[in-house]
Amino acid sequence: MRSCTLLAPAKVNLHLEILGLRADGYHELVMILQCLELSDRIHLKPNDTISLHCDHSQVPVDQSNLAYRAAALMGQTFGRGGVEIRIEKNIPVAAGLAGGSSNAAAVIVGLNLLWDLGLTQPQLQELGAKIGSDVPFCVAGGTAIATGRGEILDPIQTPNGIHVVLAKYQSLAVSTPWAYQTYRQQYEQNYGDPASWPAKTRQFLSASLVQAIAQGNYQAIGQAMHNDLEKVVFPAYPQVAHLRQLMGKYAPAMMSGSGPTIFALCASPAQAEAIAQEIRTQIPDPDLGIWVSQFSAGGIRASLNPG
Ligand code: C5P
Repeated sequence: MRSCTLLAPAKVNLHLEILGLRADGYHELVMILQCLELSDRIHLKPNDTISLHCDHSQVPVDQSNLAYRAAALMGQTFGRGGVEIRIEKNIPVAAGLAGGSSNAAAVIVGLNLLWDLGLTQPQLQELGAKIGSDVPFCVAGGTAIATGRGEILDPIQTPNGIHVVLAKYQSLAVSTPWAYQTYRQQYEQNYGDPASWPAKTRQFLSASLVQAIAQGNYQAIGQAMHNDLEKVVFPAYPQVAHLRQLMGKYAPAMMSGSGPTIFALCASPAQAEAIAQEIRTQIPDPDLGIWVSQFSAGGIRASLNPG
């Protein structure tokens, strides 16, 4: 029986700006999304029902898991049976690194291969958008400007040779709906109406971050990075604010997505390792997980194993 093995990468946000509230209740965003080498490994095997297994105890294995939902959506859409999904978790969980979205994207990409569906990448992304706003980006990977609710993607060149240190308190999880709702409660009076969004987006596209990415200058990228959600997460989670402050002493640092992971940009693996070591020394809390990775120009990588 054929099976499929996939690498499903993490992402960080180099920019997350909230423009306003959409008619569908989501926020209109301008983001830059960046894939990392740090990846989960997913194994898919044909099965009568959907079954999900994961080697990380914090990951739910029921319908609340986005990979499970992706398998259910694919089965319903194409009238197929189930699949056995095995996830080897390397991406920090509930971290703002799109681990769940990336796993869902891998299931969609993998079932397209296993079931010989012949779907194009835009078709896979359209299916992914039904599962979550970050899933279409995870299907494609690399580096992209993301607008709309995050599902409208313009790929851009991935800057070469940028390394990252990621740090997350393992027991801490920030709910994404909570982060957006809290932001709305506090900042709705500043929201622009839909007519103002295209000009705001154009303004961002000509601004320094996009230029810094084009030049591949990690210091300039670091100086121009921005995440609106820091404004609500930091006051509620002071230890995350402190972590950002500490990492920022050694390299440009920011929170990814709705957090609570903080990442710092570095020029080399040696610098990343040295910063990781420094943070470990400064915060000797065993709950603090630290990972070292680098930007990736790729996305999901699939290999079919003949039966
Ligand atoms: O799309 P996804 O299910 O990943 O989004 C999770 C939650 O994040 C949404 O239910 C919503 O509360 C918030 N969100 C938002 N605007 C977006 C993306 C997400 O308000 N563009």
